[in-house]
Amino acid sequence: MAKASKKNTIKLKFDSARKLAPAPESKAGAKIDPQYDLFINGKFEKPTSKKYFASINPATEEKLSMIAEANQADVNKAVKAARGAYDKNWKKMPPAERAKYIYRIARMVQERAREFAIIETLDGGKPIRESRDFDVPTAANHFFYYAGWADKLEYAFPNRTTSPLGVAGQIIPWNFPLLMAAWKIAPALACGNTVVLKPAENTSLTALKLAEIIQEADLPPGVVNIITGAGSTGAAIVNHPDVNKIAFTGSTDVGKIIQRAIAGTDKKATLELGGKAANIIFDDAPLDQAVEGVINGIFFNQGHVCCAGSRLYVQESVFKEVVRKLKDRLETLIVGDPMDKNTDIGAINSREQLNIINNYIKIGQKEGAEMYQSSADLPKKGFYCRPTIFTNVAQSNRIAQEEIFGPVLAIQSFRTDDEVIEKANNTPYGLSAGVWTDKGSKIFNLTTKLRAGVIWANTFNKFDPTSPFGGYKESGYGREGGLHGLNTYVNVV
Ligand code: NAI
Ligand code: MG
Repeated sequence: MAKASKKNTIKLKFDSARKLAPAPESKAGAKIDPQYDLFINGKFEKPTSKKYFASINPATEEKLSMIAEANQADVNKAVKAARGAYDKNWKKMPPAERAKYIYRIARMVQERAREFAIIETLDGGKPIRESRDFDVPTAANHFFYYAGWADKLEYAFPNRTTSPLGVAGQIIPWNFPLLMAAWKIAPALACGNTVVLKPAENTSLTALKLAEIIQEADLPPGVVNIITGAGSTGAAIVNHPDVNKIAFTGSTDVGKIIQRAIAGTDKKATLELGGKAANIIFDDAPLDQAVEGVINGIFFNQGHVCCAGSRLYVQESVFKEVVRKLKDRLETLIVGDPMDKNTDIGAINSREQLNIINNYIKIGQKEGAEMYQSSADLPKKGFYCRPTIFTNVAQSNRIAQEEIFGPVLAIQSFRTDDEVIEKANNTPYGLSAGVWTDKGSKIFNLTTKLRAGVIWANTFNKFDPTSPFGGYKESGYGREGGLHGLNTYVNVV
């Protein structure tokens, strides 16, 4: 008997540090070609430049594919295709017909959701759980939502007449590659514009997969063109004389370059730039819920989020308790293989971004702040960063003022409402904020005084296509999402 039970004992292989068996997602459902060309006028074309660059998996440093680099001649072709499609086709099409195409894209993204999620995680390093449960469904929802508006613009702008802008040049970052593409393309098409979109050079793959869907959905050639490349390709789109609108999400530095480039032209622009969001915990807040919200706010997607809650203000009487709870929770976060379904914090998107983050961690220590990092083991290959919190932070410290774009949280205490409002507003940014309290009156007081485009109360990082998003100050201008998001793609008279 004893012998038999010994034989039947199942030996579980535990991950030594985190006490969970590996649960990797299979890569089988995703097809990545060895090379991708430019999607122009409904076809995939070789780049005039004849150049390709590698896209790597930041979790393993392995090459995934070679991506075409569009030069000025390629940008010219793409803009010409978009202009042709706009004049001949898209602007004349009955809006209800345009809507059908956008609905079709939405459904096809849903049908291929698993493939998109896997490729997003392989190319960008974010946990598969996030790609699967957040990025891909939210991208599909953006197409559904704006498809619904296409033939209802007269209700969005009652007693006014709207017309599309023309060709929209759209430049997106690497933190939410598919979602940002959807976020940009869906309202542009719904309002009757055509598009030249450029994904970020680190994460082109899901935008190219979306190009395949757009081809299969039989959109008229040229309505959406997706061209790949780095900053110079982006600059060629911005400076092209036949582009009517620039929609950009990325760094504040490039946002400023774009503003200078289009000054004096009649190009319209929406810029969605950096952030340094404050989460504010009052002593009457449900603390465990608040701690969970703060963890989600800064460690979600490795802190690669423009609205990440990278600053935390805790009311003095609960400061110690909150910091202790945060440290305890930090220890339980699983850092590692993004393809593992248990992973909380995946790979940093690139070596460059990891260097930026590590540099800020050094700056924080030099500035005299007290650092605490989780003891998680990091994989030997790939770009990883332990979740990090700093206490003893001064308001003037660079880690409290500048966007780090990584899993690094700067914590300070406060006593009164007025004090925390002043501190929270004291950065060049104003994209988002979070307030944690039991009192509705406090929420109203803060939401009217915090200079931030989005303020969450007793939650954080919640997104919905129906809700507008955008910033104050150096976080940019214009709103994307919701009814407001239509405004930036039409002329209204
Ligand atoms: P970036 O602003 O250089 O890249 C964003 C996009 O702009 C990419 O598609 C890039 O190819 C393009 N681009 C670069 N230079 C351009 C130019 N002169 N004209 C037109 N397009 C251009 O951001 P990067 O270098 O990848 O990240 C640097 C920092 O920016 C991060 O550490 C983070 O702080 C911030 N960032 C903020 C984002 C946000 O969501 N607000 C997203 C990505 C980065
Ligand atoms: Mg990549």
